[in-house]
Amino acid sequence: MNKSARLVVLISGNGSNLQAILDACQSGELPAGVVAVISNQVDAYGLSRARKAGVPAIHTAALADESRRAYDARLADEVARFQPDHVILAGWMRLLTLAFLDRFPGRVINLHPALPGTFPGTHAIQRAYAAWQRGEIDRTGVMVHLVPNESVDDGPVLATQEIFFQAEESLEQFEARLHAAEHRLLVDALKMVLNT
Ligand code: GAR
Repeated sequence: MNKSARLVVLISGNGSNLQAILDACQSGELPAGVVAVISNQVDAYGLSRARKAGVPAIHTAALADESRRAYDARLADEVARFQPDHVILAGWMRLLTLAFLDRFPGRVINLHPALPGTFPGTHAIQRAYAAWQRGEIDRTGVMVHLVPNESVDDGPVLATQEIFFQAEESLEQFEARLHAAEHRLLVDALKMVLNT
């Protein structure tokens, strides 16, 4: 069992899943600590959450004319400084190339608000809700998976949870239920990874 794993969390926005990780580390539920939070967006609210928790909060912006691989190599250098056991993509909304992934083989974990093989990319929740309204699906879900290569929101699955749509619910109501489920699933999946 890994008593105090070092986690670097990459975010692009609100950071509610980062908050779930911070809380679980703080309460002792996760045998881990968040050693850095890095955002590609300067105004990501998750950076404020990190600062409030006393965790280094870093904005790493892509430079003008910087290639994707060059950015990823620079990002990997930044992450590596913190010697992470795992790198968690918790609402990180930028594709990562092998220039980043090959630096942390088997150690990059992504959260995605859909079931394996469905709705990869952005706006997964809204697209699933629209598909339900068209009568095409009766459920969607959330998943946590490893990121071995450049496939989008795809890779060996660590945990999933199905979420059924409920009659008459609005997109906002559905989103709130889904986010609550992903906060729980992400912590449970990390617990499993850290305890094995
Ligand atoms: C979460 O719903 C996460 O699953 C999703 O971004 C949101 C971030 O919310 N990730 C993706 O869509 C990845 N393709 P948060 O900033 O409040 O944690």
